[in-house]
Amino acid sequence: MGGIVSDSRNHTSPPVPDPHGATRAEAAPRAANRSERRLLFPEGPAVDPAGSHHERRIRSFRPRRGRVTAGQGEALRRLWPTRGLDIDGRSTLDLDTLFGGLPVVLEIGFGMGEATARMAADDPGTGILAADVHTPGQGNLLALAEREGLTNIRVANGDAIILLREMIEPGALAGLRVFFPDPWPKKRHHKRRLIQPEFVTLAADRLRSGALFHCATDWEPYAEQMLEVLTACPELENTVSGGGYAPRPAFRPVTKFENAGLGKGHRVHDVLFRRR
Ligand SMILES: C[S@@+](CC[C@H](N)C(=O)[O-])C[C@H]1O[C@@H](n2cnc3c(N)ncnc32)[C@H](O)[C@@H]1O
Repeated sequence: MGGIVSDSRNHTSPPVPDPHGATRAEAAPRAANRSERRLLFPEGPAVDPAGSHHERRIRSFRPRRGRVTAGQGEALRRLWPTRGLDIDGRSTLDLDTLFGGLPVVLEIGFGMGEATARMAADDPGTGILAADVHTPGQGNLLALAEREGLTNIRVANGDAIILLREMIEPGALAGLRVFFPDPWPKKRHHKRRLIQPEFVTLAADRLRSGALFHCATDWEPYAEQMLEVLTACPELENTVSGGGYAPRPAFRPVTKFENAGLGKGHRVHDVLFRRR
């Protein structure tokens, strides 16, 4: 009981700096608080879309802080009503209608969205449902998608675990991407890691046969955990014959967090499984 997928004891953590590094030159003087954000983006992403119904759970993400630049704010105000959706956990998504019948890949934790936009541009025949809680990143990805004329991206705001559990039907997804999830290196925070048995069982259920479940990390102990947990899931098989890590596929661009990890001398591992 009390794992990351099911509701659990309320978890609060101290404020942390914005890990995404908003452009300071363009940034507003300080991050808006909850009520200010509601005023700034009345038709934009909700502050706590799932509300108290899903409040009591362990979160795999840090509190949603960070400065929204003028460009990101403008994109949120203008594009959210047609390109965004709040993860409120209250209804099942009609992916066919949302993506005009394209096969749909869910990306959890797109950060600032550059890699997401690149992959969407390279593969216009696939719909990308991109989920994160980070408001500046949501604005950034919406702006990128518009600038590049990408019609195959929808931005989902909130906890992707609720999205998977409450809003996506079994076998509905053509793929799942989790690139450089927060590594939660301290032992007492390991329970906040996204890739755990309960989550992987849920995710495998939402994937259709043949779908790729693709993770990557620059944190060695987390890579080992990913490999172990995905290998133990009977519905998944490693795309690497004989098991182990996969080389980075050409279709996955180097991400922002990956670059930061590489700069620190970290080794990057891709874990690439297929739904049986
Ligand atoms: C370390 S960043 C990596 C961002 C990007 N993939 C990259 O490689 O540059 C992890 C992201 O996952 C998001 N995240 C973590 N848990 C999440 C969850 N349960 N639902 C949605 N987003 C989540 C965080 O907000 C953060 O933006």
